[in-house]
Amino acid sequence: MSIEDLESVALAMVAPGKGIIAIDESTNTIKKRFEAVGIENTEENRRAYRELLLTTPGLNEHISGAILYDETIRQSTRDGVPFTQVMKKAGIIPGIKVDKGPVALAGFPGDVVTEGLDGLRPRLEEYAKLGAQFCKWRAVINISEDNPSSTAIEANCHALARYAALCQEAGLVPMVEPEVIMDGDHSIEVSYEVHEAVLRSLFNALYEQNVMLEGTILKVSMVIPGKESDEQADVEEVAEATVRVLKTTVPASLPGIVFLSGGQTDEQSTAHLNAMNRIGPHPWPLSFSYGRAMQQAALKLWAKDMKANYAEAQKTVHARARDNGLAALGRWNG
Ligand code: 13P
Repeated sequence: MSIEDLESVALAMVAPGKGIIAIDESTNTIKKRFEAVGIENTEENRRAYRELLLTTPGLNEHISGAILYDETIRQSTRDGVPFTQVMKKAGIIPGIKVDKGPVALAGFPGDVVTEGLDGLRPRLEEYAKLGAQFCKWRAVINISEDNPSSTAIEANCHALARYAALCQEAGLVPMVEPEVIMDGDHSIEVSYEVHEAVLRSLFNALYEQNVMLEGTILKVSMVIPGKESDEQADVEEVAEATVRVLKTTVPASLPGIVFLSGGQTDEQSTAHLNAMNRIGPHPWPLSFSYGRAMQQAALKLWAKDMKANYAEAQKTVHARARDNGLAALGRWNG
């Protein structure tokens, strides 16, 4: 696959007014989401829930791609149609989470590093055969008095860049995701400084590993105070700080940037994205790749009555996609 092919997939992922739905929760993470609403974590419930999301009528009006999990990319609808076929038919690009999650970074209490590079090349080949066109790898950066260490930032960015190079070799667009976690009582200024250090390190590492930025998508957190901070920021402050840190660290050759929701409410995640796009134009499209902020309302409804609320839950997914799609254009009016 040429760089032009990678670039055209990357550009389609951030097409105007469109974003990505992240439904790549590992079996452990979906267990937590299911338990919170009283759903048993069986393979059939996971399959049925992902079918509900992926077959939402009109989803492709605002959604360009969906990130799947290893189990999900192999699953089919109740009628036996592989999810990847359902998606391709609707013009929704299949993506796949390929990291194996964060583990404690030895020697640096409180810091974590994402694993999954060993054996990644053959796994990518298999995912490409299964129909994936882009991948995701999430690095977790914790903030506390002593975290993150510069070692943690470098180790995570090195892994992200090694992963990205392998993806491009396999003809897959890497979505590189450094997530600065919102937990803690840190200020918006501290969040800004950590984002700046992480993004500088990331783009250095991508350069060192010969990653072609034209065929890469950045997925990132917003510059926001810690959840337990006494000083919460208003929508404009978050939008302004996030855009500022991106402009100072992210090359203009990148085809697009998408955000994770990271524990923000549905309303916050949409309002922040909208405000950022209102202060544009920017060098890259700014869109969304939300998990919880796309799904949480629908999951609650479905949990109450899987049959009776099925269509209503899908309508909620569509409404969230529409609102976030409008926010990606700066045209959401609350
Ligand atoms: P949230 O939007 O729930 O943070 O999830 C997005 C994601 O894919 C995190 O890796």
